[in-house]
Amino acid sequence: MAGRVLLSTQNGLYALAPLSSIGLRSNSLAASLPLFRRCPVAPISSSSRCRSHLGTVAEEKEPRKAEPFVITTPLYYVNAPPHMGSAYTTIAADAIARFQRLLEKKVIFITGTDEHGEKIAAAAEASGRNPSEHCDIVSHAYQMLWKELDIEYDKFIRTTDSRHEAVVKEFYCRVLKNGDIYRADYEGLYCVNCEEYKDEKELLENNICPMHQKPCVRRKEDNYFFALSKYQRMLEEFLIQNPDFVKPSFRLNEVQSWIKSGLRDFSISRTSVDWGITVPNDGRQTIYVWFDALLGYISALLEDGEKPGLQQAVSSGWPASLHLIGKDILRFHAVYWPAMLMSAGLSLPNMVFGHGFLTKDGMKMGKSLGNTLEPKDLVDRFGADAVRYFFLREVEFGNDGDYSEDRFINMVNAHLANTIGNLLNRTLGLLKKNCQSMLAFDSSIAAEGHPFKDTVEKLVEKARYHYENLSLSSACESVLDIGNAGNSYMDERAPWSGFKQGGASSEMAAKDLVIILEAMRIIAIALRPITPSLCLRIYMQLGFSNDQFEAVTWSDTKWGGMKAGQIMADPKPVFARIENRKEGEDEVVHKVVKDKKKTSRGQGLVQA
Ligand code: MSP
Repeated sequence: MAGRVLLSTQNGLYALAPLSSIGLRSNSLAASLPLFRRCPVAPISSSSRCRSHLGTVAEEKEPRKAEPFVITTPLYYVNAPPHMGSAYTTIAADAIARFQRLLEKKVIFITGTDEHGEKIAAAAEASGRNPSEHCDIVSHAYQMLWKELDIEYDKFIRTTDSRHEAVVKEFYCRVLKNGDIYRADYEGLYCVNCEEYKDEKELLENNICPMHQKPCVRRKEDNYFFALSKYQRMLEEFLIQNPDFVKPSFRLNEVQSWIKSGLRDFSISRTSVDWGITVPNDGRQTIYVWFDALLGYISALLEDGEKPGLQQAVSSGWPASLHLIGKDILRFHAVYWPAMLMSAGLSLPNMVFGHGFLTKDGMKMGKSLGNTLEPKDLVDRFGADAVRYFFLREVEFGNDGDYSEDRFINMVNAHLANTIGNLLNRTLGLLKKNCQSMLAFDSSIAAEGHPFKDTVEKLVEKARYHYENLSLSSACESVLDIGNAGNSYMDERAPWSGFKQGGASSEMAAKDLVIILEAMRIIAIALRPITPSLCLRIYMQLGFSNDQFEAVTWSDTKWGGMKAGQIMADPKPVFARIENRKEGEDEVVHKVVKDKKKTSRGQGLVQA
């Protein structure tokens, strides 16, 4: 049995109604069926918060201002400090946000922490703190990690923020007014880690949740329900008309088959949980953590000091352009959330992208399983650029990817230290020796009629295409191919011998260096979304200032930015090679060549 509803009556008597007996498909509560009577929600008292919030839902349309690019990460649970799995989504979101900024879009990059619910209350208790103190500590840890990873978010929303709470209550009241909230009892199997009632058929033996490998608990609660089933047809039609709503496309199939198999109303309140936002008009219940947290995507849009209202938040940028999430929370984002928005008369986001998992030994890396990888440790040892690059390059965005330290080290050494770092260093060394570090030609003149220029232009166009399609690994690959082409060009042309020969050959050699440095300039822009600090160092080696780097846009990837007379900085390695030294039979010691503090800041680096 997937779960049973207990129909509540106003006089407090309950009738147990197994799903099968009321003619429902096995996993659907189908609240719209006549047998399933809705109970009126608690009476609205004169002091009711709901009343003051109620607007005319249908007629309130969000005004469409100049459209910002609004990208969100999930709001992370604060039951435990961040791990590499949570960092992964945020790194990817940051890369996409940076790319959109390069396209000169106004970007609103939203991240934050999901702080209510049973799981968090239990974690706080286990740590001997009150929930609020606990949330402050873990939320701060997230913010600190984002700093270390060079994450440039615009909004950080905490679901315990009172402004968020006001938005959630107002939204709840809209949905209530629209007739989509009713009271009923429910009995089913609950996974606290998923914060979700499960269908028995989804579970392993002994009711074990396949995601968290922990047993679900049987619960029976008197809850408020959201009439999800009412939106089945609308969701089906929406997905037919908007096939790009769920990406990658193979995840769309999954979403469509969930919907097709019948949508079940879900409970949006908890009597057993104190640590949450109180249900308007019923102080004995708190709002279900997912119903609460999803609204963080909207409440985050409130401007500082602005009156906290749903409409104010919505008019500051809703709908989101892109929700970036892991595949485990696709159902919440691609089914529950759109239906909630439809109910409240708000626009739906443009896209939900469900990426894969980072795994360790084939198992999802996660706080609940305790098989995590410490992102802080990785950043301290290898630097933010290396961490960002590895995960975005290694894992095809959308699919799962396994972490291996050897692979990490080999990849960043080969790509960042050798292909890019060494090429730049060699070229600047030759320029210093032979041209006093000054460019003798404009790059446009140096490359006239040269196929190398076409190669770079094609690759940078390819990189743009991949970024636009969220194929971050392929975008990295295309940019790296510019570096590969630069290395081949250097080897073929051997400018050092041209300088030795003098005369016209020396002039050709000077042009060759300009050509390679122009390619390096383009790499510094095109790889900037992925490795921002490394790219700044490259740009500064090319004689530009920090401000010039800040002002760069994607249009600057056009060939021709390097001008005659530009003086390069003294050649200095931009990326430290990581030493991968085996000690003993089975112990592998990895060490950054220099002092690790300096390395993580990207200074005092040693060249490969
Ligand atoms: N709090 C909810 C999200 C609410 S959004 C309104 C939540 N939080 S979480 O901390 O458990 O997970 C946040 C994100 O991290 C999810 O997208 C999840 O997929 C992602 N990851 C957690 N472990 C992961 C891996 N091992 N690999 C990749 N991402 C994974 O769910």
